[in-house]
Amino acid sequence: MHTNDQKNQYHQEMIMKADKAIKELSALSNQCHFRMKYHFMPEASWINDPNGLIYINGEYHMFYQQHPYSAENGPKHWGHAKSKDLIHWEHLPIALAPTEDYETHGCFSGTSVYHNDKFIIFYTGNVIEDRRVKKQVQCMATSQDGVSFEKDKNNPIIRNFPEEGSQDFRDPKVWRHEDKWYMAIGSGKNGKGNALLYHSEDLRSWKYMGKMAESRDTLHGKIWNCPDFFEIDGKDVFIFSPAVSKSEKGQENRQAIYWVGNMDYQTGKFQEEVDGDVDLGKDFYAPQTLVDDQGRVILIGWLDMWWNAMPTQEKGWAGIMTIPRLVSILDDGSLTFNPVPELQELREHHLEWNELTISGADKHVCLTNGGALEIIADFDLKVSDAKEFGLEVRSSINREEKTVISFRQEQNELSVNRKQSGLSENGETTCELIPHAEDYLKLHLFIDSSSIEVFADDGRTVMSHRIYPDIESTGVQLFVKSGVVKANYIDIWSLKSIW
Ligand code: FRU
Repeated sequence: MHTNDQKNQYHQEMIMKADKAIKELSALSNQCHFRMKYHFMPEASWINDPNGLIYINGEYHMFYQQHPYSAENGPKHWGHAKSKDLIHWEHLPIALAPTEDYETHGCFSGTSVYHNDKFIIFYTGNVIEDRRVKKQVQCMATSQDGVSFEKDKNNPIIRNFPEEGSQDFRDPKVWRHEDKWYMAIGSGKNGKGNALLYHSEDLRSWKYMGKMAESRDTLHGKIWNCPDFFEIDGKDVFIFSPAVSKSEKGQENRQAIYWVGNMDYQTGKFQEEVDGDVDLGKDFYAPQTLVDDQGRVILIGWLDMWWNAMPTQEKGWAGIMTIPRLVSILDDGSLTFNPVPELQELREHHLEWNELTISGADKHVCLTNGGALEIIADFDLKVSDAKEFGLEVRSSINREEKTVISFRQEQNELSVNRKQSGLSENGETTCELIPHAEDYLKLHLFIDSSSIEVFADDGRTVMSHRIYPDIESTGVQLFVKSGVVKANYIDIWSLKSIW
């Protein structure tokens, strides 16, 4: 039997060892031309889900799943970074390393809260046998300074899954409503994903309330990961990421779903009214939110996906986070996700076009060059009659390499085509987009060394992807196929690096 002090000391030693491993790997990562200019990324090693997002005392904290010893998936630690402006991030020491026998295969995803002057992390202890989940339990860790965390001596604080759950029992989301704390845990049973609800008065002893929500449709998934919950303008929002196995990869699947509705705290049931997608890109998963001092709901997701190729792995790192997104609710109850205004700080050189019209069977006009860009293109839908129009970015001089963002008016379809984007095999991703206004469609793009995020129709439709173009492929073109396209305006900014 080890005393608590011995356990804490061992935890600190393992954290130092992990931080050292990251520093060592970073010599290799730093040589990679896919390193991001203005997205959050680790100094080196593998990262996935953002965890425990929280705004405290003027700082945004982001924790995340990290395997510090390589660029591959492995026993998870909680990496940690903070920011004063949501844009510039400072890497901090690892917050949690798996050192206990209830977490031999990782400290999995979760939440953090700030209570009685302490940071408190809730996470899942993960134990695996024969590559399958053997046991997942819920744990807590606390910190006075927000940097150095101690695991609770009563861990695990939830040791067994309830009747409605299964071995897959993870990613606690904790929030406060009136005088109680609530915890939603992702799980599933009999082929239906669900979230299991607990409540507590003191954050330590948790009482099971029942199933808070459950899949109604195969696209909602068999197991739910990373539940998230927040209130916005009098409505409750529940977000979950259906777990899809590798074998289901080719099938149509939804990666991050939001439900807007009402949480009934008496029955513990979430009444859903609106169902939508947080992001329809293929490299987006496990988003989390925080509420800051201005009451803004800010969302960050993992800008990658479990089974997608990650060519940066050979350079000792993998995984980035999306740019922070401001969540708003519309009159019809659906949500929009737009880049936070703070990102405007990064704008450097500006180019603009007004009333730009091109037409033909297959025409394009070169606009500029750049590897890290923000583009806002506003198209006049009254004049534009083309079958297809849009923008090509990160293109080579001969346009053989390019990533194409296009709108097909007749089909009301938005597409991100990565068939010629560069390294790794990627296809075309399409989704329905019926512009909310009759006369215009706005595309707002953020392009970085190895990513592209498309915010279309004022944040109603978002698609995020990784791309791996040649460093020289920096062209930007406006193009049209079969008809006329008129841009009311196009603004392009080169963006400064945050690192
Ligand atoms: C989601 C997820 C979580 C789990 C974590 C492990 O991407 O699978 O369910 O806690 O990643 O890193």
